[in-house]
Amino acid sequence: MKAAYIEQPGPPESIVYGDLSAPQPRGSEVLVRVAAVAVNPIDTYIRGGANYFTLPRPYIVGCDLAGTVEGVGPQASRFKAGDRVWGSNQGLLGRQGTFAELAAVDEQWLYPTPPDVTDPQAAAAALVGITAHLGLVRESQLKPGQTLLVNGGSGGVGSTVIQMAKALGARVAATAGSPERVAACERLGADLAVNYKTENVAQRLLDFAPAGADVYWETTRDPDFDRIVPLLAPRGRIILMAGRDARPQFPVGPFYVKGCSMHGFVMFAATPDEQRAAATDINRWLSEGSLRPKIDRVMPLSETAAAHRLQEDNTLRKAGTQCGKIVLVP
Ligand SMILES: NC(=O)c1ccc[n+]([C@@H]2O[C@H](COP(=O)([O-])OP(=O)(O)OC[C@H]3O[C@@H](n4cnc5c(N)ncnc54)[C@H](OP(=O)(O)O)[C@@H]3O)[C@@H](O)[C@H]2O)c1
Repeated sequence: MKAAYIEQPGPPESIVYGDLSAPQPRGSEVLVRVAAVAVNPIDTYIRGGANYFTLPRPYIVGCDLAGTVEGVGPQASRFKAGDRVWGSNQGLLGRQGTFAELAAVDEQWLYPTPPDVTDPQAAAAALVGITAHLGLVRESQLKPGQTLLVNGGSGGVGSTVIQMAKALGARVAATAGSPERVAACERLGADLAVNYKTENVAQRLLDFAPAGADVYWETTRDPDFDRIVPLLAPRGRIILMAGRDARPQFPVGPFYVKGCSMHGFVMFAATPDEQRAAATDINRWLSEGSLRPKIDRVMPLSETAAAHRLQEDNTLRKAGTQCGKIVLVP
């Protein structure tokens, strides 16, 4: 089968697009004929040598996939050949990745793809959808009528957080870095979208929600707590899920006196049951049309190295040349 893989961590050019032996489904694994995959920033960190996990060699890059079941292992019972499925959480914790024509995935990380949802849509919603759900439902326990501010509303996670928070009945404010991205946040359903480069975010938010935000979702890797904490409502929750190397200052007094809390998490540590609960809601929202994954572009799988370069330019160097998910098709 064709696959995008590395023999050694390194720059995007270290990704080889070539032939590897097709995997066989063992135990409770399901063999998926991959129809679409999506890039996430963590794909580029791992490829670049972040060393979070011991990697199989060769290591097929990528976490997300959507496709059709081709066969199942002897202990698999959830799916059968011909079923359409999507999933995430691959390429992590020592597991093989998804950027290949075939992938053997344990059935606990796969979900049925609704009939009216395309494979590119399902792949684009996978890791970011589970992340957004975990942060909104499990961590911040966002309730209808509460106010959420997402900093970075035009990105893969942020665009999903906007739509899910609306589906959960919240009032949603978002920031973005250009007039086009502000408009994109509004199209996704944000009640307020603010250009963080040219406008006073604090003033716009406090005009929109005088008591402050019940939930502040930070998508950037360098949170500024002196700016964030004054934006929180009493008992406000901060969601943190990026910036392993960040060591910012923190205004302790203003934070605890308001009774605020801060929640950090990584999606890949969520249990199979937690991820499946997220996937069930994601499927319902995808079918209803209340969740429309924001796809920046679709590329052939053979261009995985170029897709990584684009993602990395935006995640690490803030190039502003990507707005949403990069999807690849074999
Ligand atoms: N913990 C987890 O489980 C988990 C899961 C998924 C992702 N992540 C992490 O979350 C981060 C975001 O992921 P992603 O997939 O959404 O990345 P992405 O698609 O590259 O989006 C990043 C967004 O950040 C925005 N941004 C950059 N500088 C900003 C600033 N100063 N203020 C406000 N927004 C700013 C950009 O918006 P503009 O172009 O409009 O400026 C861009 O859309 C990454 O670091 C990723 O590794 C963690």
